[in-house]
Amino acid sequence: IKRDSRFAEITEEHVNHFRSLLGTESAIIDGVTRDATDDIEPFNGDWMRKYRGHTKLVLKPASTEEVSQVLKYCNDNMLAVVPQGGNSGLVGGSVPVFDEIVISMSRMNQIRSFDEVSGTLVVDAGCILEVADGYLGERGHIFPLDLGAKGSCHIGGNVATNAGGLRLLRYGSLHGSVLGIEAVLPDGTVVDDLSKLRKNNTGYDLKQLFIGAEGTIGIITKVSIICPQRSKAINVAFFGLESYEKVQEAFREAKGQLSEILSAFELMDRQSQDLVHRVTKNKRPLESEYPFYCLIETSGSNTEHDSEKLEKFLEYVMEKEIVLDGVVAQDTTQVKALWGWREGVPECLGHWGGTYKYDLSIPISELYSLVEETRAKITDAGLLGEDEEHPVVDVVGYGHMGDSNLHLNVATRRYDKEVEKILEPFVYEWISKRSGSISAEHGLGLAKKNYIGYSRSDTMIRLMKQIKDLYDPVSGIHLL
Ligand code: FAD
Ligand code: MLT
Ligand code: ZN
Repeated sequence: IKRDSRFAEITEEHVNHFRSLLGTESAIIDGVTRDATDDIEPFNGDWMRKYRGHTKLVLKPASTEEVSQVLKYCNDNMLAVVPQGGNSGLVGGSVPVFDEIVISMSRMNQIRSFDEVSGTLVVDAGCILEVADGYLGERGHIFPLDLGAKGSCHIGGNVATNAGGLRLLRYGSLHGSVLGIEAVLPDGTVVDDLSKLRKNNTGYDLKQLFIGAEGTIGIITKVSIICPQRSKAINVAFFGLESYEKVQEAFREAKGQLSEILSAFELMDRQSQDLVHRVTKNKRPLESEYPFYCLIETSGSNTEHDSEKLEKFLEYVMEKEIVLDGVVAQDTTQVKALWGWREGVPECLGHWGGTYKYDLSIPISELYSLVEETRAKITDAGLLGEDEEHPVVDVVGYGHMGDSNLHLNVATRRYDKEVEKILEPFVYEWISKRSGSISAEHGLGLAKKNYIGYSRSDTMIRLMKQIKDLYDPVSGIHLL
């Protein structure tokens, strides 16, 4: 793709304008004027070290009004922008493609209010997920979303990507839990839909458009969200299984027997756990190794009742040989350690260099076949091996089994065109044939921009473009 020449290059005059607008020096990181100070590079590169932009200017507005003034000025002066939250996105959407101005939400990080009766939390978009969850924890509540990047991702970024994560099975998607949004449109208009109402059937539910829009139609500045009570009893179990068929049986049994207390059902294949082990050197949870592992979490209000249910379930799945071996965490340290084997996967995969990531919704019966087929293709092409000659370290599958969401990942020593040619469009065609989704929870970003047609019809894409044009007629830049 080429830079759209309609967009202006940033000049000293623009920077001076932003300085007068945002006031303090710390609000601006600038590579344009001579007194430029802070390091701009972290804002140009993504978490996977795969995408790199060339911004010369990072703006850190401190209020909705400042976001509005910045966007209006950019709109009037044809300056392209990219909103950035915690920069933990995995599809290249959070960094500039060319020299777009980065609008960092990091200074808008306050918790505004919390109602302990209804569980409604109102926060600024730049509030870090873990900070919000910690605040809620002190008040007996929990954020309805949890993910491995909780220490860095922003709630605004979570909502902009409609992040799914580890608790979706229990608490549903952000489309259900977000009650209201305040956002600024590209022309500077402030949309105040910061409702705290659970029910509100008065016309179109416009806030839904911003959830998962990846910043294409405006910048989210505040979010109101319903948060559940924190469960008193949390149990985590980790199993080894001999086949994907058994994993499916275990999932059915878990739903049937653990029903309302089941809060997560995660899948990890042997290859993914081997890589975690190679990086962390931690003691494995089970004595032997198995082709598949599952992590089950239960969250309920009554420790005795939950433990009894979980024990019965364990007895059943072991007796029927659905599960070959298993362990239950005995305390919170062990709970954390077991979760580490799942949450640590993305970071460990990146250890050797880069990762080709595919975040897919697949009919559950076929979910793992894609990993096997992909591994066979990469192996047959002679690309997988132990030494530096081979670009691929391993092909692994893990993910949110409870949501039919597979993460197919190819861990590599370097990003390599030959590997990419085997993976794309193969993976997307495979998904399209099964009416799956090429993006279950990470979004399109730059990575999947050209592949949306594998999961959406021409009519759907046309409707999306109409919405983009309506909210952002000047930019005309389409994610789609
Ligand atoms: P960024 O990466 O900064 O931005 C993401 C996108 O949102 C970009 O397009 C950006 O322009 C836009 N954006 C950011 N803030 C705003 C705003 N205020 N208004 C409008 N647009 C905005 N994702 C999952 O869904 N489930 C997981 O389990 C999961 N686990 C992860 C684990 C790890 C270790 C990592 C690194 C990532 C994981 N992710 C997961 C992906 C990522 O964390 C999520 O997509 C997260 O929601 C992004 O939030 P962020 O603040 O980092 O956003
Ligand atoms: C996860 O579930 O771990 C995340 O979505 C990140 C990833 O896909 O690696
Ligand atoms: Zn995930």
